[in-house]
Amino acid sequence: MTTVEQRAGQCPATHFDYSPIRPVGAYRAKAQALRDDGTPLWVNTQSQGFWMVSDPELVKEVYMNYELFRVDSVTAVDPDLDPSQLLVPLNINPPDHQKFRSLLNPWFSPASVARREAVMRENLRNLVSGFSGLGRVEAAREYAAKVPVLNLLSFANMPIDLAERLIDLVDTFMAGFSGAETPVGEDGIRPGMTSATDEINALMGSVIADRRHNPLDPDMDLFTSLVQAEVDGRPLTNAELTGIGLIYVVGGMETTRAQLGWLMYHMAKFPEDRRRVLADPALLTPAIEECIRYYTVIWGVGRKVGLDTTWHGADLRKGDMVYALNSVFNCDTRRFADADSFILDRKPGPNLSFGRGPHSCIGMHLARTQLRLAFEEWHRQIPEYSIEEGAELFERGSEITIQSLPLVWQPA
Ligand code: HEM
Repeated sequence: MTTVEQRAGQCPATHFDYSPIRPVGAYRAKAQALRDDGTPLWVNTQSQGFWMVSDPELVKEVYMNYELFRVDSVTAVDPDLDPSQLLVPLNINPPDHQKFRSLLNPWFSPASVARREAVMRENLRNLVSGFSGLGRVEAAREYAAKVPVLNLLSFANMPIDLAERLIDLVDTFMAGFSGAETPVGEDGIRPGMTSATDEINALMGSVIADRRHNPLDPDMDLFTSLVQAEVDGRPLTNAELTGIGLIYVVGGMETTRAQLGWLMYHMAKFPEDRRRVLADPALLTPAIEECIRYYTVIWGVGRKVGLDTTWHGADLRKGDMVYALNSVFNCDTRRFADADSFILDRKPGPNLSFGRGPHSCIGMHLARTQLRLAFEEWHRQIPEYSIEEGAELFERGSEITIQSLPLVWQPA
């Protein structure tokens, strides 16, 4: 089969590795440069080569044309999904996708999230109390990463003492997902990512086994409800259940951690914005929406081409990968006035941070609620703070996560 590069035609080639750790702001600057260049479709020669989609309208098409753009793999540099890394329902194509999605929807609805708010708030209040007297914390790990893990563990009635281990495992998993720190060996395996996935799967497998033998109230416990659920008149297989467990852990933790890291970074770096929100709490919701747009965490999504066709002049072949850039959509000047500025009270417009179409993020209400509670509970105890002088800040690629964020304040 010919490579994407050999079929580039009029499509310009570029070699841009979207995974490494770079200085903070580098990936946003790259998205802006791609926008300003205006080329709609590139051939990116990274890895096996893939089509990189930067025109906002085409990015939307990739999400919506799910018959052509399949979710058999959602990693542009990795066309062949390792079965142990199956994410359910993300790696299930419509129409079967809906069968799994409908089992999960009730758990992530606004009403269901609201019922959990008091527990989440208490988790966060205790977390902040643990370091508020110290005057310094490395907020990327000790706050942004801990907030979602504590909430997800209590949400699923899992032991809280798994938090530290899960943070490490998800870190290793994500580094491998982006190819950043555990490059593919000659055997095609990323050792760190594989062992992290195996351990997360084993851990979620034991939760699932436990819920089979010691069921909790299925109206109150996600994994009890799932082991008792059916699709097409049969129970879910172990692979399907662990696939849900895996995305619950990695999808739920890393993205929220990244977004909260950016919210804290922004509020520390721009104290005038922070003070405006503290003076007028009604600004918190638009500020969170702007953070979700401006600091786009999922730089782009991958899809696998389902059939040979010509698409906007590109000679697509079944099995090619495409990479559709949310980040360019989110800084489109036709959609967002003054798109390169963070406007605290911007009237929210539809962005692509939570995706679009059948696979749009099921956890968006949970994520937004956690961001709001995390802002409120931090500032209740630490209203004034700044980034430690001299700190050099870096972000990981692919899923754009700030690597460390040392914050300092005057303890009360
Ligand atoms: C700010 C935080 C979050 C961001 C930016 C985010 C972003 C996204 C995006 C862009 C997608 C679409 C991926 C694609 O189409 O390839 C997605 C899907 C998904 N997200 Fe999130 N997410 C966040 C939080 C969460 C949370 C808290 C959970 C649950 C615990 C979650 C669970 C999922 C699941 C299960 C899917 C797949 C949905 C499907 O295939 O139907 N996410 N997310």
